[in-house]
Amino acid sequence: MRPPQILREGDVFEGKVPITSHISVGRRAFLLRIGASQVAREAAPGQFLMFRVGPTYDPLLRRPFSVCRVVGEEVEVMYRVVGRGTALLSERRPGEELKVLGPLGRGFRPPHGPPLLVAGGMGVAPLIFWAQRLRELGYGPTVLLGAASAGELLGEGILREVGAEVRVATEDGSLGFRGTVVELLERELEPSHFVYACGPSGMLRRVVALVEAKGLPCQISVEEVMACGVGACMGCAVRARAGGYLLACKDGPVFDGEEVTL
Ligand SMILES: Cc1cc2nc3c(=O)[nH]c(=O)nc-3n(C[C@H](O)[C@H](O)[C@H](O)COP(=O)(O)OP(=O)(O)OC[C@H]3O[C@@H](n4cnc5c(N)ncnc54)[C@H](O)[C@@H]3O)c2cc1C
Ligand code: FES
Repeated sequence: MRPPQILREGDVFEGKVPITSHISVGRRAFLLRIGASQVAREAAPGQFLMFRVGPTYDPLLRRPFSVCRVVGEEVEVMYRVVGRGTALLSERRPGEELKVLGPLGRGFRPPHGPPLLVAGGMGVAPLIFWAQRLRELGYGPTVLLGAASAGELLGEGILREVGAEVRVATEDGSLGFRGTVVELLERELEPSHFVYACGPSGMLRRVVALVEAKGLPCQISVEEVMACGVGACMGCAVRARAGGYLLACKDGPVFDGEEVTL
């Protein structure tokens, strides 16, 4: 039986919203802002939105993106162009309308100890919203932010804007700690920490192994490929440690580290 979600997750919105801003924030990376007051009100950190990326039904399937930050009645999503859908999204302009479904899924639950957030690459997106909410709840979140090099680093400025303490790891040593963000976690992890992580699955596997070896709690946000986003297609199944499968879109995308096999 999964523990109850402590932060309330709200009603799902489906409809068109205006794009209010769309800027480049790195190599092939963009920050998209939409005017979506219901989503802004209802979204819990860790939840995601499904976008119909183009102005038509091509591509047919919506694409999932984490809520990255809420600014008043507007919602931001940070994304990297990896294929056709995200390339189409990157061509959308302020003033155009975007079809949105969400917020969807289960988000993070509050920590019982100082929160330590671990972000690899674009995995920073949901952790920005979580850091923002943790500050509002009175916590002082620390974020370990990893990338291959300084040029690939995403979200550092926004994280500082929302009041997080940020420590950077780059694999080539061009900024901050030289090494992976998991190696930085190994140095920073203290017995009281509650860890939250999002990033590539190899990184998440190493984070869970490290944190479990020390007997500490952690939650991870997984980014499975999704077709429907609402529990109908079974396309996003992740293996449950207790046996069987869990759906990333409905049971997740946030799971306790001990719930799933990555
Ligand atoms: C819950 C959730 C939240 C997400 N949040 C974000 C976010 O905040 N920012 C962001 O940039 N991306 C996020 N993603 C990933 C994003 O949905 C994909 O990058 C996007 O759907 C790719 O669409 P595409 O048409 O451009 O690529 P496609 O042409 O569909 O695929 C291009 C390449 O990307 C890979 N890919 C496709 N979907 C995913 C995926 N879900 N995870 C990993 N690789 C994938 C494919 O295997 C392929 O190699 C999230 C995914 C999930 C499930
Ligand atoms: S994406 Fe369809 S069931 Fe999860």
